[in-house]
Amino acid sequence: MNSNQILKGKKGIIFGALNDASIAWKVAEQCVVEGAQIVLTNAPVSAKIGQTAELAKKLNAPLIYADVTKMEDLEHLVSESVNLLGGKLDFVLHSVGMSLNVRKKRDYTDINYDFMHTTFDISAMSFHRLMQTLFKQDAVNEWGSILALSYIAAQRVFPDYNEMADAKSLLESYARSFGYHYGKSKKVRVNTISQSPTKTTAGSGVGGFDAFYNYADKMSPLGNASASDCAAYCVSLFSDYTRMVTMQNLFHDGGFSYTGISTDLMEQFSDSALGK
Ligand SMILES: NC(=O)c1ccc[n+]([C@@H]2O[C@H](COP(=O)([O-])OP(=O)(O)OC[C@H]3O[C@@H](n4cnc5c(N)ncnc54)[C@H](O)[C@@H]3O)[C@@H](O)[C@H]2O)c1
Repeated sequence: MNSNQILKGKKGIIFGALNDASIAWKVAEQCVVEGAQIVLTNAPVSAKIGQTAELAKKLNAPLIYADVTKMEDLEHLVSESVNLLGGKLDFVLHSVGMSLNVRKKRDYTDINYDFMHTTFDISAMSFHRLMQTLFKQDAVNEWGSILALSYIAAQRVFPDYNEMADAKSLLESYARSFGYHYGKSKKVRVNTISQSPTKTTAGSGVGGFDAFYNYADKMSPLGNASASDCAAYCVSLFSDYTRMVTMQNLFHDGGFSYTGISTDLMEQFSDSALGK
């Protein structure tokens, strides 16, 4: 990994590095390579199923477990991070998502609303809860940068993405709404990155993920963006080179979002290919 030290002297918190396939895992590594000091965090239950502790050891970063649905966990995480890092934060990555209806294989037309409530709580409201905690503790420096990861199902229908589409719409809306207040009061910017399908634990949980992945790869002029590509983009948005970017949903998808159809896919739909 090349380093230009564009995060030298900056401090941040990275949520959601479960294993080395996680997008947040690559972001954490790249932030440290670029000179940042970070705190890692993940759900307490991840200690049993994930490798966040290994990453913390490798990067020499403190690890503070926090469940994003619990206010007291976030309050402790933020105050303790400022304490351990020796000053206010410059960046935060929210890389957290989970859908109970997807996990329990409930169809979108047969939703369990207790599950949906939990999905929205973990995948979207947690972003507001996190920003409110940061805001109230005045834990972020001016021109700091807060990011969350989203998916294009917030704008366009991908049937198997199920209730996560609605969770992502809410997540992106929080970035705009809180981004306004955070910008106005404290000159902190808030954005979401809408990432290509990526082979991770959360991604692979979505029904028909291989089809999602292959379709997007064939549609995008540049192909799918990898987790490492996403990490590089996150680093740029944490840096001082993007100070005036806020309240945006930024597509990081190899051109997928603006492509109507690609030549690769057109070939598959010609009359001759369809045997007409
Ligand atoms: N993989 C994809 O195709 C893709 C595409 C676009 C956006 N995203 C988004 O990227 C983000 C990261 O996902 P990923 O693909 O790297 O998968 P991942 O499974 O590696 O990461 C999801 C993380 O959420 C954490 N988490 C779940 N419940 C939590 C809770 N209650 N408290 C704290 N943490 C909790 C998990 O422990 C895990 O670390 C998610 O928001 C996801 O929706 C993923």
